[in-house]
Amino acid sequence: MAFRERRLKVVGVGGTLREGSASLGALRRALAAAGEAGAETELLDLRELDLPMYQPGVTLDEYGSGVKRLVGALRGADAVLISTAAYHGTLAGVTKNALDFAQFLSGGEHPYFDGKVVGLISTAGGEQAGANATGALVHVVHSLRGVVAPLMVSISKAWQRADGSGDITDELYGRRLESLGELVVDLAGGLAARDERAELAGVAG
Ligand SMILES: Cc1cc2nc3c(=O)[nH]c(=O)nc-3n(C[C@H](O)[C@H](O)[C@H](O)COP(=O)(O)O)c2cc1C
Repeated sequence: MAFRERRLKVVGVGGTLREGSASLGALRRALAAAGEAGAETELLDLRELDLPMYQPGVTLDEYGSGVKRLVGALRGADAVLISTAAYHGTLAGVTKNALDFAQFLSGGEHPYFDGKVVGLISTAGGEQAGANATGALVHVVHSLRGVVAPLMVSISKAWQRADGSGDITDELYGRRLESLGELVVDLAGGLAARDERAELAGVAG
């Protein structure tokens, strides 16, 4: 189906295992903006998914519903929003473990995150670790062949900028998150149009 005849899909993956996670609240805000921009959205809350550790050699069939939902959603995504907390100077283990399951996307014409736009978000208690976390995620996304969106939102002093439910209360950061949500939809639309043109040219040739 031509991309113009379907809605782009944006999948948000993130949050920590902490109830009232600010990184999850930040993700909700960006994903809502992607929805407002016309995309179909799916939120993958890592606390809810309750993923086991990725274990090489274990097949997808052998994993439970959380892993299957994660892999299926990532496979079908045009764009992905990843939101992590900063733990000990870089991205939290729960985020990295979730991304290790992208190994199940290694086959096919578009392996891993090939052709997908990825928006990056982090929250941190201090000033520095959030930037380290998004920086480390750039390397992860590039190794997965994804296209990193050229706007990253790194929320420092998150304890001042989120409420008890994790919702972002600082409007400056809130607006940046919305811009990121809109940007990934815009960029994913551009990539889908480019692929469609290439496909048509291939058929015509
Ligand atoms: C185990 C642990 C390690 C952390 N390490 C750092 C750190 O190195 N630098 C920092 O700025 N904040 C650090 N923090 C604070 C978190 O990054 C911050 O509270 C973040 O917003 C938590 O995200 P969440 O609300 O989604 O759980 C740490 C928090 C925890 C629980």
